[in-house]
Order: sequence, then C-alpha cells, then structure tokens
Amino acid sequence: MKILVTGGTGYIGSHTVVELQQKGYQVVVIDNLSNSNEAVLDNISKITGIRPDFECFDLIERERTLDFFSRNSDITGVIHFAAFKAVGESVAEPLKYYRNNLVSLMNILEGMQLNKVPFLVFSSSCTVYGQPEELPVSETSPIQKAFSPYGNTKQISEEIIGDFLETSDVKCIALRYFNPIGAHESSLIGELPLGIPNNLVPFITQTAIGLRSQLKVFGNDYNTPDGTPIRDYIHVVDLAKAHVIAIERMTNGNNKKALEVFNLGTGNGQTVLEVIKSFEKVSGEKLNYVIVERRAGDVEKVWADTRFANAELGWKAAMSLDEMTLSAWNWEKAIANK
Ligand code: WQD
Repeated sequence: MKILVTGGTGYIGSHTVVELQQKGYQVVVIDNLSNSNEAVLDNISKITGIRPDFECFDLIERERTLDFFSRNSDITGVIHFAAFKAVGESVAEPLKYYRNNLVSLMNILEGMQLNKVPFLVFSSSCTVYGQPEELPVSETSPIQKAFSPYGNTKQISEEIIGDFLETSDVKCIALRYFNPIGAHESSLIGELPLGIPNNLVPFITQTAIGLRSQLKVFGNDYNTPDGTPIRDYIHVVDLAKAHVIAIERMTNGNNKKALEVFNLGTGNGQTVLEVIKSFEKVSGEKLNYVIVERRAGDVEKVWADTRFANAELGWKAAMSLDEMTLSAWNWEKAIANK
C-alpha cells in the first residue's frame, strides 16, 4: 500500500515514515524543505534500507498539488504533517500561517477527492483545547478560543475537514498531539530546529551541548507543584506508531465515523523543572538555567485523557520521561559529532 506523507522530512513526519516502511508500506514524501533538509531521507534509508520517493514543492501551489495526485492515483492514504507550527512566529506573522496551513490542506483535500484517495490522517494539536477548565483533557472537552494563530489554524483545519467529509467518501482520523519530544533510538533522525529552538527540549539539549549559553525557564509563579507549567510530553516514536495504527484502522474498515479524533499523549503531566531534572539525571550534565518572566501565550497546565485512544486504537505511549530525555540527548550528541 502506498502512503503519501506530507512534511515527511520534518520531525514527526520522518519518524512516521520509518514506522510506515517498517510495517511494509510504500511511502512517498512531499516537502518544500522550508523547515527541514533532504538529507533526512538518506538517514531514513540508513534505518529502514529504503529511501522514500520524494517530491519537493509547496502544497500551497494548487496546480502542482493536483498534478501530483493525478500522477499518483495508487495512493491509499495521506498523512498530512506539512504546516508551519511555531506558536510565537504565528503571532508575529498570522497571514503566513493562515495561508500556508489552510491553503495547503484544501489543496490536499481537493487532490484526494479528484483521485478518490480514501483515507486521511491529519496532524492536529492539543492547542485546540487552550487552557482546559478540567484536566485531564478528553476529546469531548470544549474547544476553546485558540491562544495563537497557529492553534487557530488547527481548529479551522478540523472544521474544514469536517465540512469536506460531508461532501466526499474520504475518511479521516485527526490526531491531537500533546508535546512530542525525543528522537529515534538510532540517533539518525530527530528534532532539527533551524535557528533558535522555540521548544523546551531542544533548547535544553542545545544548552547542555554548548550551542546555547543558558536556558530561560518562562515563569515559576504558576499554580503547579513547583510553579512551572505542566505539559504532557510524549516520545515522538510512540506518536509515530499511532499514525500507522490510524491508517490501519481505516484500511481495515474499523473507523466508526467519517471523522474520528484522538488525543495522543501519555496521560501524565510533567512540569518544566521535572523535565530539567530528568535530563540532568540521564545525561549527568548540570543544566545552566534561569527563571525569567512568563512567555505570552503559554497555558498553565494541560495533559491528556488517553483512555479513548488506548481503548479504540489499542495504542498506549510506552516511553518514560527519562527515556525521552535520554534519546533527545543522544541525538544532540550525534549531530554535534557529525
Ligand atoms: C513547553 C514548556 C514553556 C522553551 C508545543 C508546540 C505546539 C504544540 C504543543 C504541536 C512551556 C517552557 C519552553 C524555553 C521554557 N505541538 N519553555 N523555556 O508551548 O507546549 O507547545 O507543543 O502541535 O506546536 O509549540 O511547547 O516546548 O515551547 O514549551 O521554559 O526555552 O516549556 O513555557 O511551559 P508548547 P514548548
């Protein structure tokens, strides 16, 4: 079976390509390399022995996208990762985010419809929940006003898909990620933020390896055990495996609705200081960090109710926080030695 992975040279995309290939799927990747590089495909083939087919173009180009689908009518499913995802950048450049994330999705949907591609897995996000009133947050928790244009593009995307499915035979599973961290055990693929990392874990490992002088911890005056915000950190490989399961759920006809939504988290909330402590334990490094003022747009605490995904998908995140931070550190050391 042939699966299109958009954004397949990116962080979660590349790890999903590996899991798909190892389950016997043929994979074709589309990526515009705006936030990743093509060498990732060579590293994927070092892990799996297969270099995925690859086309480099921008999915906001409608004709190019429709032409791709007409040339690849044997595609069974699409896993759509390609999107901009930096929360802070989206506040500074909202139109760039709405145009890129929404137009590329609509072109994908149009291409699927024209060529009768039946299944879509959509990369969504826990940011659709904003700051939940109740925790843990479940798939039926209220969707709140997004904290950022990025989060809003995910909310609007889910609505676009819902309306589109009313008019087509496409089936979709939307996966709402919590905080993906860590790297493949081979240390051949991992998170490769271009420039200064927005996210916590790459900033930690880059500080420890000496690329950054000090980690700033954005606020310790939250209503949490140690005052720092709580997130549900999940290993990127656990996350990738869920995407293969989602495709299989639809190809086996086990999906129960045209659009199904699942939270992908561990169900455990951890504070920023707990992540730092885990990193220091597994790496043996003392991390240089300082507490500063809060970052605008941060929610105080969010973690997933994973019972629905556990029960319906038969999937459960397996890796511990220490395994996640150790894999991130091994990856950082591997790229430093390249
Ligand atoms: C985590 C915690 C920060 C950096 C991310 C993605 C978003 C979505 C959800 C997929 C927060 C703190 C961070 C730093 C810090 N993923 N922090 N110092 O904001 O939860 O959102 O996951 O859709 O796209 O951005 O993740 O890693 O930026 O922050 O103290 O230098 O770490 O305040 O509490 P976030 P993050």
